[in-house]
Amino acid sequence: MYFRAKEVKSEDFVGKEVSIRGWVHRLRRQKENAFVLLRDDRGGIIQCVFPAGKAEGLTIESSIEVAGIVNKDSRAPEGGFEIKGRSIKIFNVAPADYPIGEYQSDELLLDKRHLSLRTRRMIAIAKIRASVLHFGRRWFVENGWMEVTAPTIVKGAVEGGSTLFKLKYFDEEAYLSQSAQLYLEAMIFSLGPVWSLTPSFRAEKSRTVRHLAEFSHLEAEAPWVGLDDILKTEENLVSYVIQSTITERAEELEFLKRDVSDLKKVQPPFERLPYGRAIEVLRSRGFQVVQDDGSRRDIQFGDDLGIDSERELTKDAEKPIFVVGYPISVKPFYVKEDPQRPGVGLTADMLAPRGFGEITSGGQREDDMSSIINRMRKEGLNPDAYDWYLDLRKYGSVPHGGFGLGIERLVRWITNVEDIKDTVLFPRTMSRVSP
Ligand code: 4AD
Ligand code: MG
Repeated sequence: MYFRAKEVKSEDFVGKEVSIRGWVHRLRRQKENAFVLLRDDRGGIIQCVFPAGKAEGLTIESSIEVAGIVNKDSRAPEGGFEIKGRSIKIFNVAPADYPIGEYQSDELLLDKRHLSLRTRRMIAIAKIRASVLHFGRRWFVENGWMEVTAPTIVKGAVEGGSTLFKLKYFDEEAYLSQSAQLYLEAMIFSLGPVWSLTPSFRAEKSRTVRHLAEFSHLEAEAPWVGLDDILKTEENLVSYVIQSTITERAEELEFLKRDVSDLKKVQPPFERLPYGRAIEVLRSRGFQVVQDDGSRRDIQFGDDLGIDSERELTKDAEKPIFVVGYPISVKPFYVKEDPQRPGVGLTADMLAPRGFGEITSGGQREDDMSSIINRMRKEGLNPDAYDWYLDLRKYGSVPHGGFGLGIERLVRWITNVEDIKDTVLFPRTMSRVSP
């Protein structure tokens, strides 16, 4: 029987013989003894002490199996327990040129991501990400939403033509999906509230710390809901995921030096900030936007919010903020126009606090056939390409809505890592499709 490091680091094991398998994470030789920090296959670490002769030939990242007696010694790193090694079996001796050490450029760590995911930082982030996915799924299941899967090879744009990845699909042209939304909309008529977790693809030409070309998209859609119902769903989901994750991953967050005191405050309700008010706040602070020709002007009603304006709006916030009621002119064709306020969309983005910015977009969908066709035309989309989607407005259209949440955006906020590329093990960006 084999143990993991975490299991044997306990009073119950002291004096007992254990076997443990893993990799040489660090190695220090003294005249008499060799100190091996062994990393097991869940990233747990324990010191194993051997008489110097027994550890000959070992190198960093060699794979080994150690048998020995668990010993308590306050000098032992990683929790004061160690293994007094009796025997060691070597599976593979790694060449001495293992490229990942203590100090590396970010670029090298990305080029060698298949190896750098063995670093403790990446292990901690991966575990936090796993918890975010787990609790996200659990929230939907426990609250009566049904899981569905939508195709990722599609014929139409959802979020604008400029970020579509084109693909040769046999003899046709197709795209990688930007969002499962239109398919989820088709499902609510017979499956009720549904959710999916699928990769979404965006040919983002900008290099930013919050955009990936492929991201994990958690999306939900339900019939007979209005904007307020959708926002309640979002704030309950996000609060649950955060509270559960910071409890389950306290150790990993501490390793990342993430002070979670602000995350603990993330409980519903979140503030609803009308879009118009957001623009007033930004204007009162002299906030400017950069125009296409590079010149600057004050932000004004009608402008979309971007990374910088979202940072400005949320820099002092402790909880997420919903910006509600964007002009429909800055949102896609499917956003429902508020019948009481022409030009205003029944839509909201959730902005994470402390400058992290947008993590969800959602709202009520346009359920009227002719309005949606007009809006498609305005956006330069050909309604013929959406014939199946328009059928949904024809046969039993109902008020409905939903939202999409970017898993990596949420993980970035929870972990407080600067670059979104570090929230996913094998990131895809404009300049990176390998490893
Ligand atoms: O705001 P977006 O584009 O909205 C939609 O796709 C809707 N159709 C979703 C829906 O209502 N079902 O994307 C939703 C979220 C964003 O708020 C953001 O968190 C994330 O997806 N996201 C990205 N994450 C990483 N890299 C990118 N390039 C992203 N684009 C969007
Ligand atoms: Mg959005």
